[in-house]
Amino acid sequence: MCSAVSFTGSAADFIPPHPTLTTLRDAAAQCHGCDLWAVGTQTVFGEGPRAAELMFVGEQPGDQEDRAGEPFVGPSGRLLDAALEASGIERSRVYVTNAVKHFRWERGEKGKRRIHKKPNAMEIRACRPWLEEEIELVKPRVIVCLGATAAQSLLGKEFRVTQHRGEAIESPWAEAIFATVHPSAVLRTPSAARERAQQEFFSDISRAGAYMKLHAERRERR
Ligand code: URA
Ligand code: SF4
Repeated sequence: MCSAVSFTGSAADFIPPHPTLTTLRDAAAQCHGCDLWAVGTQTVFGEGPRAAELMFVGEQPGDQEDRAGEPFVGPSGRLLDAALEASGIERSRVYVTNAVKHFRWERGEKGKRRIHKKPNAMEIRACRPWLEEEIELVKPRVIVCLGATAAQSLLGKEFRVTQHRGEAIESPWAEAIFATVHPSAVLRTPSAARERAQQEFFSDISRAGAYMKLHAERRERR
């Protein structure tokens, strides 16, 4: 693959004036903010209610999301759903999105499989304006970063998920940000350690859920 593709360097060039989630989604479909517009099949924008109090931010769409045009509908999405259910959080009430909105992949050495490649710092930066606008419009009370890419986008490059997973972190983006591992990392864990990795992932998600409930009660009592 060596075709040169043109892009502007930032999604900010495509954001409409006074956006709503609908006009934002439509504009994102035309984004050429980074080179990934030519790599993925389509822009996979966030999904969920405009008034969601809880937002999940993943890395980038995977193979199935790229085909479906929806976030977290593949294996990682199923594990996320299980974690939400175990924590008593309804998926229909949360907003789910990604730090990067196009699938980055490379063809496997032989065969047809599309191999996921991590987005680089330039792509994460170029795509962040979409995420910023989603946060601005939804105004979630709590944001959960799923994995290092989302954490890098919202908490900076120095942030280490392994050191701060499951903690309520202060940030200008929301009342609190939580970070945990990406569900695909749990799915890739060798089987002997997978059960434990899954429990830790579920526990991080339930901490975010508990924080939402505790603070909502405190607010109501005021
Ligand atoms: N992994 C992600 O980070 N996001 C998706 O939407 C799917 C898999
Ligand atoms: Fe635009 Fe983001 Fe897609 Fe790059 S990954 S083209 S910045 S939507």
